[in-house]
Amino acid sequence: MPLSQPSPRGGEGFKPIGPIPPEFAGQARLAIGGRDATEWAADGTPVFVYDMAVVANRIARLRAALPAKIDIHYAIKANPFVPFLQNVSELVDGLDVASSGELTKALAVKPAATISFAGPGKRDEELDAAISAGVTINLESEGEAERALALADRLGVTPRLAVRVNPDFELRGSGMKMGGRASPFGIDAVRVPSLVRRLVGAGVDWRGFHIFAGSQSLDVQAIIETQAATLALAARLADDAGTAPPLVNLGGGFGIPYFAGDVALDVEAIGAALGERLAARPAILGGSRFAIELGRWLVGEAGVYLTRVVDRKESGGETFLVVDGGLNHQLAATGNFGTVVRRNYPIALARDVMGSAAETVSIVGPLCTPLDRLADRIAFPRAEPGDLVAVFLAGAYGATASPAAFLGHPPAREVIGGQA
Ligand SMILES: Cc1ncc(COP(=O)(O)O)c(C=O)c1O
Repeated sequence: MPLSQPSPRGGEGFKPIGPIPPEFAGQARLAIGGRDATEWAADGTPVFVYDMAVVANRIARLRAALPAKIDIHYAIKANPFVPFLQNVSELVDGLDVASSGELTKALAVKPAATISFAGPGKRDEELDAAISAGVTINLESEGEAERALALADRLGVTPRLAVRVNPDFELRGSGMKMGGRASPFGIDAVRVPSLVRRLVGAGVDWRGFHIFAGSQSLDVQAIIETQAATLALAARLADDAGTAPPLVNLGGGFGIPYFAGDVALDVEAIGAALGERLAARPAILGGSRFAIELGRWLVGEAGVYLTRVVDRKESGGETFLVVDGGLNHQLAATGNFGTVVRRNYPIALARDVMGSAAETVSIVGPLCTPLDRLADRIAFPRAEPGDLVAVFLAGAYGATASPAAFLGHPPAREVIGGQA
């Protein structure tokens, strides 16, 4: 049953899959970082394999696209696997962390001055650790600001502080909106200038603004407009506060194509527009540096989750391939991590990546819940127990964003390959 259009695999009676990242699409047998998938799986499945060459390519492309004044920060929540993080940290200018656990990992690989700590509800111990280390804290509330000042006073340290602004706009088209509404994230823009005056008056090492308006947008125009609005907001807040920001973190929001019909972002167009805006920026931002903060765009396409077929069974006229991992490791691929409508991630049989479809199958994990479905009624080559299935786009929000302890299956292994 060969298909007229091999990618996205789909057709009569099938549901389509998302686009396989270009580095892996078109291969006959799946190789990751120059090694065959079967070699990666030899020490046990399920396993996340991260191809560092793919990350390096993404970062190099972004650097070429962005104006030189823009630093690239990696939000380590996307993938904090230590060997992976060590590698990525060498390629980026800064790291953004969201907990003391992430802070410890970041401090092991990058100087404190290049690390920032955002996230609501930072506990005193977390503020203490960040201030002591000299990490920039992106303050999420006036209350947090006062606690940070008091802790710094007690420690006898000048804290490096920035304010996370809850912008009065959102990133249009983003999967996760973080602005333009009441929010646990950041401080409402109207209240920011008085807080900045308070911080500067208290003698802190004032670092500037963090403005993060959303995530997972594939809309180039929306990102361009949001970056322009972010620059304008930073300038307005700085003017109102009477203090220039040394750094403006413009947020991120760059999405990757997960589903059929999604189109990869034109980052060159985004970089060109940002270059024009920066060239014409208001005077108060004349001496500022700028950063963008990204997770999934940098690393998401570099990861492949390999899981092995344990069983094939028929029920009600449908064929199920039961594999040895699922939502316990790759929650997002099962549609249970923030998606409204469940759609299929790119997925393939590792020994026949672009193989012609022999049958319609659903690929399910071993958990006793109907939610544990990695692929729903897709066209697939004939697969047997022992075969390896590759779920793509597993480089971000995989292992640490999935309920690994649920039902007590072993955790997935994680490995890196493709290093320079
Ligand atoms: C403050 C902040 N920074 C960075 C990110 C990373 O987003 P993404 O992985 O979509 O680039 C998020 C996502 O939730 C975030 O909340």
